Amino acid sequence: MNETIDIKINKVKESRIKSIDFNNIVFGTVYSDHMFVADYYDGKWQNFSIEPYAPLSLSPGNAVLHYGQSIFEGLKAYKAADGSVQVFRPEANAERLNTSAERMCIPEVPQELFMTGLKELLSIDKGWVPKSKGASLYIRPYVFAMDEYIGIRPSNTYKFIIFTCPVGAYYSEPVNVKIETHFTRATPGGTGFAKAAGNYAGSLYPAKLAQKEGYHQLIWTDALTHEYIEESGTMNVMFIVDGKLITAQAGDTILNGITRNSVLTLAREWGIEVVEGPVAVKDIVKAAEEGRLEEAFGTGTAATIAQIQKIGYNGTDYELPPVEQREFSNKVLEKLDAIKYGEEPDNHGWILKI
Ligand code: COI
Repeated sequence: MNETIDIKINKVKESRIKSIDFNNIVFGTVYSDHMFVADYYDGKWQNFSIEPYAPLSLSPGNAVLHYGQSIFEGLKAYKAADGSVQVFRPEANAERLNTSAERMCIPEVPQELFMTGLKELLSIDKGWVPKSKGASLYIRPYVFAMDEYIGIRPSNTYKFIIFTCPVGAYYSEPVNVKIETHFTRATPGGTGFAKAAGNYAGSLYPAKLAQKEGYHQLIWTDALTHEYIEESGTMNVMFIVDGKLITAQAGDTILNGITRNSVLTLAREWGIEVVEGPVAVKDIVKAAEEGRLEEAFGTGTAATIAQIQKIGYNGTDYELPPVEQREFSNKVLEKLDAIKYGEEPDNHGWILKI
C-alpha cells in the first residue's frame, strides 16, 4: 500500500468500561468502546476511521445479507505482567484474511492497513484488555460486501471492520464431541479452508442435533467417505496416541489454524513426533478401545487448548483419561500462556507489543 494511512479518530464521549463486570463475561457479548472502519470503493481501500462501536446502517438489498460474501479473523491481545499489551501473531491473521479473501472474490486488505488499524484501535482501547490470567481481548477483523445489488456477482464495494471484545474461556469445561458421519462441513474444492461466514452457518444445524444428544461440538469428517477426521469448526483437533501427536493436514477442507501451527511448532521443538496426515476415524477409535488414546484436544484462538473428555462415534462414547494426566496439552497450554502473558521470552517472533 503506497498511500499514507490517515485514520480519522472519533472517540466516544464517555467510555462504557466502568459498567462492565470483567469477572462475569460471556464470550462474545461485551464490546469495547471503538471500532476501526475502512471502506472499499473505486477499486481501493479508503475512509479510514476509528469510530464508537455502534450499529451499522445497511441497505436491505445489501449483497452480503443474501449471498454471504463475508470473511473474518480472530486473534487475541493479552495484558502482560509488565502492564503492556501483547498481541499474538497478528501478521499471521492478516495473511490468512487474504487467503480467505481470494477464495471469496473479496479485495485483499493490505497487511499495512490491517496492522495500522489494529495498532491504532488497541492503543485507544487498551484499557479493555482484561487483567486476569485466562482472560484476553478477542479481536475480530472482518470484511463484507456492501453493494446494494441482488444479482449474483462479486460486490464492488466492501467494509473492513475491526472490533474487540473482552473475553474469558470459550469452553468453560472439557468438551464432549461427536464424530459426524452424515453431514459435511467442507468439500474438496470448496471453501472449508477459508474463514468464510457461510462455513459457520452450514455447521449450525448438525451441531444443534449433536447438542441435543449431549455433545458440545462435532468433529467433522471428510465429505467423500466420512472415514477421516478433519476439524471441529470452532477449532482444529489433535490427538496423542502412543506418545505421537496426530492431526489432520491443513488443506482445502481444513482451516490452517494459527494456534494449530503454534502447537505443532512447540511440539517439534520439544522432540515430539508429529504426524500430520490423514487421521482415520477407525485408528482413533481403536486407540481409544486399547487405552492408547492418551489425549485429545482442540486448538483455536477462541478455544485456546480445549480438552476433549468424551468422543462419540456411531452410538458409542469413548472416555479419555482425566485432564490432569495429560502431559502434552497441559504443557503446551502453559507454554503458550507464558508467551502470551509475557512471562517467558518470545523466541519465535509471535508477539506484537502495543
Ligand atoms: C476463533 O477461534 O477465533 C474463531 O474464529 C472460532 C469461532 C468459533 C469463535
